[in-house]
Amino acid sequence: MRVLVSGGAGYIGSHTVVALVEAGHDIVVVDDFSNAKPTVIGRLEALTGRHIPVHAFDLTDVDKTAHLFDIEEIDAVIHFAGYKAVGESVQKPLDYYENNLGSTFALVRAMQKHGVDKLVFSSSATVYGTDQAGATEDRPTFATNPYGWTKVMQEQILRDVAVADPSMRIALLRYFNPVGAHVSGTIGEDPSDIPNNLMPYIAQVAVGRREKLQVFGDDYDTPDGTGVRDYIHVVDLAAGHVAALEKLAATSEPVNTWNLGSGRGTSVLELLHAFEKAVGRELPHEIVGRRAGDVATSYADPSKANEELGWRTQKSVEEMCADTWRWQSQNPEGYPD
Ligand code: WQD
Repeated sequence: MRVLVSGGAGYIGSHTVVALVEAGHDIVVVDDFSNAKPTVIGRLEALTGRHIPVHAFDLTDVDKTAHLFDIEEIDAVIHFAGYKAVGESVQKPLDYYENNLGSTFALVRAMQKHGVDKLVFSSSATVYGTDQAGATEDRPTFATNPYGWTKVMQEQILRDVAVADPSMRIALLRYFNPVGAHVSGTIGEDPSDIPNNLMPYIAQVAVGRREKLQVFGDDYDTPDGTGVRDYIHVVDLAAGHVAALEKLAATSEPVNTWNLGSGRGTSVLELLHAFEKAVGRELPHEIVGRRAGDVATSYADPSKANEELGWRTQKSVEEMCADTWRWQSQNPEGYPD
């Protein structure tokens, strides 16, 4: 299929582009590059050996989005594009609602106008709200921040679209904590500012860009007191998107929700020590107070995806750390401008 990947220059989007090409699909990328560097595209072309058509504009622009479907032959869409910083969403709710929902409105309208009926939507475990130990897809959804609400709302919007237009085939993919990098070390996670997330922060400490890791609390009700999360290697996550996309071509279900996670929890200290093993030395860290909004435990029940997609995570926490370290040590400052 010829697949439009929105946010295809981003962390998960770029890894999914590689997986799609490897599975024999053709790609078109649309990205406004507000949180990604154009350098990524060159890296993707080198990795895939293919020219990758890129359209650089903001998907909330209804006319440009509609025009894209006039000039490009598109069979399916994987929609990653969106703002995703929890803390920032609390400060700028209107930007988050306008951007994340507006881009989905423009995209789905253009799809329907051109008879493009397959959509894979990048949702998040954040829609499970608070503690998510073994969350299953039938759990009611809610959020505790505007970013999370944009995901809850987009899922509802897409369910309602599918009721009105049952010819649609929609996958709602709920990610847990994506980490890692392609084994080549040429693409990886490159936060534009100080990393909010644990793994890129540890990687920047290891490469000398940050002084030390702050561990946000060790008084949670978890085995070692630090936060437990379901880390999933981004290459496994990308494979889950390909499996979901191909399932849409074969299912009669208009809307399909799948958790993409390992089903296993890893604590902050466990991840830190695994990373120290990958680097071969101890990394400076200190225990500080809890971060507002954090939950103690969050991990998936991925059995629905395992059964219905024939997909499961393959890569270990050690591989997540080794692959992250290879990317970070080969690209200490991330992607060049
Ligand atoms: C993981 C653990 C922290 C940084 C977030 C979003 C979620 C999703 C994934 C988009 C927690 C601890 C972290 C640090 C630390 N994003 N930590 N020191 O919060 O589980 O999920 O990213 O969908 O919506 O909320 O990920 O990596 O920020 O935190 O101790 O410097 O690491 O307390 O226990 P999180 P995270």
